[in-house]
This record gives sequence, structure tokens and C-alpha cells, in this order.
Amino acid sequence: MFTSRKTTNLEIVIAFTEALDARDQHTAGHSRRVMEYALSIGKRLDLSAGSIEHLRMAALLHDIGKIGIPDAILHKIDKLSDAEYGTIKAHSEIGANILKSMQTFEDLVPAIYHHHERYDGKGYPQGLRGENIPLHARIIAIADSFDAMISDRAYRDALNVETALAELESNKGTQFDPDIAHIFIEILHQSPPDMNKIMEPEWYL
Ligand SMILES: [Fe+2]
Repeated sequence: MFTSRKTTNLEIVIAFTEALDARDQHTAGHSRRVMEYALSIGKRLDLSAGSIEHLRMAALLHDIGKIGIPDAILHKIDKLSDAEYGTIKAHSEIGANILKSMQTFEDLVPAIYHHHERYDGKGYPQGLRGENIPLHARIIAIADSFDAMISDRAYRDALNVETALAELESNKGTQFDPDIAHIFIEILHQSPPDMNKIMEPEWYL
């Protein structure tokens, strides 16, 4: 059966994503939802078809470096020590290193490496500020934070959507790119992504 290069790449990305979900049941489905949110922003920004495809794969793979974080830290319920938090933070660099080794995915490296930067320069790993942070990384940061807020975590219950929207609003220009946060808040008000649809088995087609 003929399989296009594009499909093959996406299948590799999905296999990686499922490997990560298998490791961390708490966040299973997180990568898919982040992808859905990120794409809704990318489409609203009129990104090119090629850019959208990169964004899709980068969003799915943003936390792939967590594969390299020990379970005792990744699944810890109690407060992390500074050293443990430092280990968790290494996931963006580990993810970038995994993808760097495959020429096909080299273009996704900046988005993965910088997805925990903050607009005010207080993020990691490099403390980049404003538009020095790659666009895809700024988009994924917002999609990622929103999904984390509205999901249950081992150490806290989910926030409701209203509260999460208020958090996005109040962190515009500090944690988040203000223009992208504004667009995402509008999207969530006007046409929230269909979560049931993206959890169907054919979600990636
Ligand atoms: Fe992350």
C-alpha cells in the first residue's frame, strides 16, 4: 500500500505521543488537546499549510522529553524540591535532543525547546523574551497552560473554564504573548474545540 511521506511522519509523531501517554496516565490525551488548541490558534493567525503541519507535530511532541524524566519525579504528588523541579525542566532540552537526531523533525526543535519560555523572559530554558520566542512555542505555551489548568492533576482539581479564561486574561504580556492569548480567549468564547471529536480513534486523519 502506498503511504505518503507526510502520513509516515505523522504516524511516527503519533507513536511517540502514545509512548508518552503510556508512561503518564495522568496526562494521557493532553498532547492531542494541546494540538487541537494550538491548531485553532494557528488557523486564526492564517499560518501557511506547511506551518500548520509543523505546528501540529510540534504540539503533539511538545512534552516528549518527559520520557527521559524518572517516574519518581514525574509522578510525584508532593511539592517538588528545587533539584527535582530542575530535573523536570530538563524535559524541553531532552525533547529537543531526541528530535534533533532525526533530520525529518529538525524543524520542530525550536518549538519544543522553547515551549516553557515566558513572554516576560522569566521562563526556561533560555529566558527568551517577547517575539524572540519562536511563534510556534508561544502558541504551544498558551495551549499547554490552558489544558493543564482545566485538567485534574494528582496534586489539585481542575479549574473551571471561566477561571482558566480569567487566568489567561490576567497573564497576558507576562506569561503569555498578549496577542495570541487574546485570540485564544476569543476562540474559546466563539467556537470551543470539540473535545469529544479529538478523542476518537481517527482523530489524526
Ligand atoms: Fe512541557
